[in-house]
Amino acid sequence: MNDISTYYGLLRRAHEIIRPERYLEIGVHEGHSLSFVQPGTRVVGVDPEPKVENPPDNTVIVPATSDAFFADPELVGLLGGPIDLAFVDGLHLHEQTLRDVANVERHSHPDGIIMIHDCLPIDAKTAARDRTTVVWSGDVWKVVVALRRHRPDLTVTTVDVEPTGLAIVSGLDPDNTILHDDYDAIVEELAGLEFDDLESVGRDEMLGVVPGTWDRVEPLLAS
Ligand SMILES: C[S@@+](CC[C@H](N)C(=O)[O-])C[C@H]1O[C@@H](n2cnc3c(N)ncnc32)[C@H](O)[C@@H]1O
Repeated sequence: MNDISTYYGLLRRAHEIIRPERYLEIGVHEGHSLSFVQPGTRVVGVDPEPKVENPPDNTVIVPATSDAFFADPELVGLLGGPIDLAFVDGLHLHEQTLRDVANVERHSHPDGIIMIHDCLPIDAKTAARDRTTVVWSGDVWKVVVALRRHRPDLTVTTVDVEPTGLAIVSGLDPDNTILHDDYDAIVEELAGLEFDDLESVGRDEMLGVVPGTWDRVEPLLAS
């Protein structure tokens, strides 16, 4: 059993346990998180500036933004069917991540799982919308707040793994249009949130935080 105290460890374990038929990764960079995919999984990775060298045969890298990917049925068709597991790790701004999650859900299997990186920010500087630090989570955490507020039918939990947390979303409903229909209002609402609200309101309650231990994580990965 590998360590799940980091997001890489947790992602690796998710691949080992779920063995998804189809996996979508938004934001592949050099392919480190892609390397946890197990044999038998069909993989589509999306990134406007991918730096993945020699992807394996089961992997297609689409050099595009996530918005361009979802706007093109031919590109989405590369998945070959509904997504079983997705990892959202593209542009770290709440409005983009909300769009990514809404689009992923629309193309997911109802028993699928969406993982969102960077949902447990360290401090105001690394959570700022303008990047000035090496570790940068941006304001992705706000998407967890939105999902918990506007989609109570989903199970949305933030696992406290190094360095900046990983949210796990399940109970997906590909036919639910709330995130698409109410997108503008939700983004506006999220823009009014500040990093300090996490402390004043209570970070663990706002983000549904659980420790990165197997007894807490295993039920979240069961479909
Ligand atoms: C933090 S890196 C991903 C790291 C990778 N998932 C890993 O853990 O090894 C973020 C990536 O998102 C990509 N990106 C930026 N904007 C994007 C967008 N609109 N759609 C998809 N990917 C995007 C960047 O090019 C970058 O490679």
